[in-house]
Amino acid sequence: MCGIVAAVSTRDIVPVLLEGLRRLEYRGYDSAGIAVLEPVDAKSELRRLRAAGRVAELAGQVQAQGLAAYTGISHTRWATHGAPTERNAHPHVSGGLAVVHNGIIENHEEIRARLKAAGSVFTSDTDSEVIAHLVAFNRKSSVSLLSAATQAVAELEGAFAIALLCESDPEAVVLARKGAPLLIGLGEGENFSASDVSALVQVTRRVIYLEEGDCAELRPGSVRIVDARGTEVERPVHVSEMTAQAVELGPYQHYMQKEISEQPGAVAATLETVIGAQSLQPGLFGADAEALFKDVSSVQIIACGTSYHAGMVARYWLESIARIPTSVEIASEYRYRDSVPDPTGLFVTISQSGETADTLAALEHARTLGYRATLTICNVPESSLIRQSRLRFLTRAGPEIGVASTKAFTTQLAALFLLTLVLARLRGKLDRHAEATYLQALRHLPAALQHVLAAEEKVAAWAKDFASRQHALFLGRGIHYPIALEGALKLKEISYIHAEAYAAGELKHGPLALVDQDMPVVAIAPSDTLLEKLKSNLQEVRARGGRLYVFADRDAPIGDEEEAVRIIKLTDHAGPLSPILHVLPLQQLAYHVALVRGTDVDKPRNLAKSVTVE
Ligand code: G6P
Repeated sequence: MCGIVAAVSTRDIVPVLLEGLRRLEYRGYDSAGIAVLEPVDAKSELRRLRAAGRVAELAGQVQAQGLAAYTGISHTRWATHGAPTERNAHPHVSGGLAVVHNGIIENHEEIRARLKAAGSVFTSDTDSEVIAHLVAFNRKSSVSLLSAATQAVAELEGAFAIALLCESDPEAVVLARKGAPLLIGLGEGENFSASDVSALVQVTRRVIYLEEGDCAELRPGSVRIVDARGTEVERPVHVSEMTAQAVELGPYQHYMQKEISEQPGAVAATLETVIGAQSLQPGLFGADAEALFKDVSSVQIIACGTSYHAGMVARYWLESIARIPTSVEIASEYRYRDSVPDPTGLFVTISQSGETADTLAALEHARTLGYRATLTICNVPESSLIRQSRLRFLTRAGPEIGVASTKAFTTQLAALFLLTLVLARLRGKLDRHAEATYLQALRHLPAALQHVLAAEEKVAAWAKDFASRQHALFLGRGIHYPIALEGALKLKEISYIHAEAYAAGELKHGPLALVDQDMPVVAIAPSDTLLEKLKSNLQEVRARGGRLYVFADRDAPIGDEEEAVRIIKLTDHAGPLSPILHVLPLQQLAYHVALVRGTDVDKPRNLAKSVTVE
């Protein structure tokens, strides 16, 4: 989704803004822009450049125009209100004032009507433009840009992160945050702001996370923050662990390729604190975890996209190992549904970004329904979800840049398996022997993942068969049904092939009608108790001439390859951890199909990494 980078310094900040935007490209966007206050004689002049397209195009314009300045704001826009054209790209201006915005202003129509009547001239179809005119209007009667902004923000409804600057105060950038992420980066004699820390690792790792309702004023030598009530406040300074190297591509062609291959290390890092342990402690999930977990009567999991699939896998573990009733629901549905809550249950949100608007709203909704025990499993420290949940588990996947989630997913699964074991033990469902066996399996998991990755060449060979197809089916049973869903999601996200997943037992209730020699059918076929059932389903596909692509375990009693049945055997069956292994070749398949089709693997069209609007 939209990305913001802003800077104020005594040196030229244009290269910092452009590099920041490049580093935010992964969030997903369709246009980009920059506004700076260029010193001209003794004054400053607002200059703005925008491009409907990539940051590289904007950088080309910047170079051609020789833009240089000490104060600037910049933006990548993911279109919501208004097409992704240059006139809708941010920054939006009103006189000598410019603004960039992430989020949605819900009451933009009424503010627009009022400002139009007062003489403001609008030049875009966006909701964001009202902010520029509203602050400019307030500026006429307020003492500072900051007070004009705080006055405007009080009127805005919806979710937003905002950065603005104005010719009348050329050494200031003003910020506001409500419901969308924004942080301040502290430099020496210069200060910055960005949607996430990856945009700023090039200049600083010292950051302040703005809190809900905060406004701030950055100058080269100072930072002032006022809270929602207008009181000046101090916010803690954090030193981000993110390094510039962690967000570099290195020897890889794509971030997705890098991130798929990083999974053994990411899972090992996520499990690090428990790998040497004899037994699991609830404290892994936060200081209050034992007290809160002890009497929970059910688990409600809420998430979106790939994180939702992680929740679906966890339901099988939580019910079969911890014997606790578990429901899983998509956040955007849950938040508006009249559900029957179980306030004595554990409410779990899962998110790689920690900023997904629907998941945040679902958490808030759960609080109003009376849930006390809230836990988030998330990959971003200091994200909104982490801060708003009572308990938390931080996955240690490292920055995930590819829009299609890979290592965040497998680390979420590792975390959810730990949660299962902790709840199982507290509920008296796990004896010492079983716990030791599961811990041993977890210790072996990184090595098993490495082994599975080695099948890449064989998977890549299959990709050629898929690249020319319009459709594909994915089948799985039991705990591997969500893995089939995830495989189909990966394929459609990055190759744009229409892919559907079914619980294989449902095949004859509809999808079998689609099967013919042109329909590739991918089957996830681990050596579990459902293998024989799945084999019968596969016969149903073969009998209709469908082409089968089967991922099996090393020792699988599954027939030999033939023209219409291709099989890749991965590694030994991993028991309940099998879904964590079986998703890897599906990620590789999607990646290689996308390579053959020549799509933009890391930045698939229309998609965003961090979905900060509902
Ligand atoms: C977007 C991303 C997906 C992600 C989903 C949920 O659609 O492209 O990769 O699974 O949002 O995001 P979250 O950050 O909450 O896991």
